[in-house]
Amino acid sequence: MISPLSGISILVTAGATRERIDPVRYITNDSSGKQGYAIASALAAKGAHVTLVSGITQLAPPEHVALIAVESACEMLAACLSLLPVHVAICAAAVADFRPASVQPQKIKKRDNQDTMQLELIKNPDILAELSRYARHRPELVIGFAAETEHVTEHARQKLEWKGCDWMFANDVSQGVFGSDENQIHFMTSQGIEHWDKMSKHAVAEQLAEKIVTFFDR
Ligand code: CTP
Repeated sequence: MISPLSGISILVTAGATRERIDPVRYITNDSSGKQGYAIASALAAKGAHVTLVSGITQLAPPEHVALIAVESACEMLAACLSLLPVHVAICAAAVADFRPASVQPQKIKKRDNQDTMQLELIKNPDILAELSRYARHRPELVIGFAAETEHVTEHARQKLEWKGCDWMFANDVSQGVFGSDENQIHFMTSQGIEHWDKMSKHAVAEQLAEKIVTFFDR
């Protein structure tokens, strides 16, 4: 069997983070985790040593992939940093940008006549940006996904630049990509852009894996 990525270590983040408010409530998002899981699976099939740092999903762990299950963005960042050094980091998770400023130890009760409620949120760490700027053990290749509902390529180009990653996979999530089995990708680097046809998330994962094989000149 040909294993073009043998000896290459890859971390993949996937799924949604869950940010606790109290013991029975949290903030999350619609990510299914399908694209990140498909990527982890495609890379493992090419012989890479893959660790999937997974937030919340309903998916079964892929075969031949090490799984670290996390809930919050802070836990996801800590898990990613604990895996360094790796050759490649791929951030496909839908990370909540903010979390409650404090987690209440007991269920929050509403007061009599209370019609509104304020919830203070604080910014979460940006895992993709932190890995891209990690001076001591920056992965050779850092890859992000940009989920956009408008001005897709323009917004994704800005994310590529300010987060400092090497490749960006931009997709338009205005038409139900979350949960779908298909994705349409605009693949961006500092050199240019490729517009890919709409295809299954497994096919996207396969093409991404091929690009990584080419990157390592295998
Ligand atoms: N990302 C991350 N940590 C965060 C937020 C995002 O690692 N706290 C990563 C995602 O995994 C993805 C990329 O950054 O690879 C872009 O995520 P996206 O949700 O498209 O953008 P945001 O950075 O959240 O920006 P905005 O919500 O303003 O579009």
